[in-house]
Formats: sequence, C-alpha cells, structure tokens
Amino acid sequence: MLFQRVKPLDQILATAEKKSLKRQLGAFQLTMLGIGAIIGTGIFVLTAEAGQKAGPGMMYAFVIAAVVCALAALCYSELASMIPVSGSAYTYSYGVMGETIAWIVGWALVLEYAVAAGAVSVGWSGYVNGLLKSTGVGLPQFLQTGPFDGGGFNLLAFLVALVVTCLLVLGTSKSAKVNAVMVCIKVAALIAFIVVALPAVNKVNFEDFTPTGWGSPMGGIGVLGAAASIFFAYVGFDAVSTAAEETKNPNRNIPIGLIGSLLVCTVFYLLVSYGAVGAIGAKPLMDSAGNALATGSQALAAACASPAHINDLVCSKEPLAHVIRELKFPWLAGAIGMAASLALPSVILMMIYGQTRIFFTMSRDGLLPEAFSRVHPKFHTPHVITLITGVFVSLFAALFPVGILADISNAGTLFAFIAVSVGVMVLRIKDPGRKRSFRAPLIWLVGPLAVAGCLLLFANLSGKTLMVFVVWALIGLVFYFAYGYRKSHMNPANAHMLEPIPAAMPAEPKFHEGPQA
Ligand code: ALA
Repeated sequence: MLFQRVKPLDQILATAEKKSLKRQLGAFQLTMLGIGAIIGTGIFVLTAEAGQKAGPGMMYAFVIAAVVCALAALCYSELASMIPVSGSAYTYSYGVMGETIAWIVGWALVLEYAVAAGAVSVGWSGYVNGLLKSTGVGLPQFLQTGPFDGGGFNLLAFLVALVVTCLLVLGTSKSAKVNAVMVCIKVAALIAFIVVALPAVNKVNFEDFTPTGWGSPMGGIGVLGAAASIFFAYVGFDAVSTAAEETKNPNRNIPIGLIGSLLVCTVFYLLVSYGAVGAIGAKPLMDSAGNALATGSQALAAACASPAHINDLVCSKEPLAHVIRELKFPWLAGAIGMAASLALPSVILMMIYGQTRIFFTMSRDGLLPEAFSRVHPKFHTPHVITLITGVFVSLFAALFPVGILADISNAGTLFAFIAVSVGVMVLRIKDPGRKRSFRAPLIWLVGPLAVAGCLLLFANLSGKTLMVFVVWALIGLVFYFAYGYRKSHMNPANAHMLEPIPAAMPAEPKFHEGPQA
C-alpha cells in the first residue's frame, strides 16, 4: 500500500521534454542563485533564537546545520538533474517511492514553503518595526508581534505576505538582475556587520560556551536544538539543484554552485555569529529552576520585556541591527535594518512561489482539486492557489512567532530531505543505467550520512514542533485517502487522464517563471 503507484520516470520526464530550456547557467550564476535564496531571516533574525537555545555554542550549531545541508544538497542535485521537472522532492518521490510517500512529502513541503514564507514575513516585520521605532513612529506593541510573543496581531508581517501574494498573482517574476541586487544588499549588510562587530569582540563573552549543553531528543534546546532551528538559515539552496536543466556542464557546475553557495553562507554565518556573540554576549534567559526559557513562549516574551533583559541579544527581533546599535553605530544599524527590509521580501516571494508550484503539480496529478491549477486568463498565473496560499501565509505570519514557524518549516524540509536522500539511493539500485547529469560522489557514504544528519536535526526539534508535524501528516493522510487516492490520475479508473501529458504545465511559459537566470 505504502509504495504503490510509482509514476514511471519516463512519464514524468515526458512532461519536462515539452520545455527545452537553454543551458546557460555557469558556476558563478548558480552560486549567486543559491546565496540569493539562502540568506534571509535565518541569519538576520534567528541568531537571537539560536543564542537562547545554545548561548555562544550556536556557532557549533551553524557548522552542524551546514554539514547536514551539504550532504543533503549532493543527493538533491542528483535527483534534480535526473528529473528536472517542477515539484521538487514531491515529484522525485512519486517517481521512486510511489504516490503515498509522494503525497506525504508534498504535504510536508507545504510546511517547508508556506510556513517558511510566514517565518520570513515575521522576521522582516522585526526589522521594519525596529526602523519605525527608531524614527519615532512605531506601531503599538499589540500590532508589532503575534499573541505568543507579547503582542496580539503582527500587522506588518500580515501585510507583507499579502502584498507579495498580490505581486505573484500579477505575475512578478524574479529575474537574475533582481537576485544579484538582493545578494549584493544582503552581503554588504553582513560584511558591514562583521567589520564593525569583530573589533568589538571580547573573549569574556565566550566563557560558558555551551550553557544549555548539547540537547536531547525532542528537547529543542542545546547546541543540537539550535542546529535544528538554525538549519532554516541554509534552506533555499535547492534553488540551485532545481536549475539543473538550465545549467552548462551540470556535473561540474551544480556541485560548485551548491557547495559554493553553502560554503560562502557558512563562512558569513560563522563570522556574523562570532561577531554577535563576541560583541555583546548571548546569554540564554533561564527560569528559576535553571532551565533555558523556551523560544517563542510567553514566559520568554515576559522575561524579555523586563528592563534587565530588554537589551539582550536573545531578546532582539532584529539582532544584527541591535548589536550594531549597542556598539553605538546607530546609522549603520539603521542601514542594516534597511538592507534586511529591502531584501527579505524576495525570500518571501521565492517561498510562496515555490509553494504554488508544488500545489500546482499535485493538482495536475489529480491529488488536489483541479481548481488549484487554474491559470488566470490575463495574468497567466495560478491565481486561485496563489491567493489561498497567501491568505494562509499571512495569517501564520500575523499570529505566530518566527522561531516556531521556522522550526515547523524545518520539520517539513528535513522530512523532504530524508525522502530525497533515500530516493537517490533507491534509484541507484533500481535504475542504475539512467542518465544522471550529476552523480553524487561516494553515494553509499553521502546518502546514509545525509539521512542520519537530517534525522539527528529532526529529532532535536522541540516535542511541540514534532507533534505539529505528526498531526499535519495525519491530516494529510486523511485527505489523501478521502480525496487524492480516488482522484489521482494514477488510479487505474482515471488512466485516460495520464495521456497525453497535460498541457497546463508551469514549466511551459503558461505562467511566469520563478527564479531565473
Ligand atoms: N534560508 C532562508 C532564510 O533564512 C529561508 O530566510
């Protein structure tokens, strides 16, 4: 039952054949694409969360998450280069492990993309609220954060997600030029931060390096708990692997693009976290029993509101700007806030865009209602699903704290990465002769390590996050057996729907392309 209805890869590929993209991306463009998708709320905002979870030990967390991502990235690339069609891990799983697993992966990708879009929206609002406050026109506290975070309704996060949704409905695409500008803004902000923060590093701030220990399964705390959260900072590199079909000499350039962008980001992240911790310290706030307060909890929000902690790194909603402000460079803090405010919406756009593509593909396969893949006659965008996604993303963003959304998103992403890493090994056995324009090196080492690394991070998310994930998966399974299982085009009763390949594919210029060269 679990592994039934494997969609033949050739059937999937027939769809891709309808679109022949020019191979024009080189290693440099791919690296830029990766950096553009990766740098976002993770480094600009979650540094504070990671500090609360691990103290200065968050620097280990950045390294651990980077290694896990690099391993998973190699597996991702092999499948992306073999099956270069939309749908990402969902499509790969359909072609390797069958419909039920593909459905669960697709359902988990909703967490990866839609919930992540919510997280980045909340992260963005932290910076914009900071900027507004510094100009004396701040919003009332009730409208600055959600109800779990000391406020009531995060107005700016709600609005930015809605505006980005409208842009996507109107057909805004993301061009290489826009991406390059965003990368420059983000990288310039990080470099400015490093240049100012590093000279202020004081080694006293590294004493008690791992105040919360290494963490325990389902604890969501300690170095591993922080790694499970800060994993969010690296998500997005799959943009590189999904460009496999447009890449010149993919066997060489994909790994350079992937590992290159991950490496560049890791170096930046390490320097930034070293600078942030070293300059003003990152002491987790503890309860009376000596346990670190949970991130995203009302207890932490209350502790952070007290005058004793209001200036702590772990309490800041805009930690990088906050560090610079504490170092008495208010104009530079403002510039970093401005850079984050300008650049983060592009990450939101990419995430909502990714979500609509996954839904579109699932709908085209019959697993979701056909209305989801309806394309707007004038704008040529999948407006129905974009609007539905956007409304949900806006509400998540208005109500939940960034750390909780990022962790839930990580659960979905890690699950998808596990499916991809297993899938690549299964295909090596099942279909060794198929053309692979990129082959993951040492797959029997890299594959199992990728699975083990993802499992390690997954297990170190908090119990509550894992519970949300399980409930979400169960709802998905109920939906699948009540609807998708019957309506699937792979259901023998619907076999006539499989051929010819449906015309309305996002891969065709039916609606605007996403990340582009
Ligand atoms: N890596 C992206 C970010 O940190 C998702 O915002």
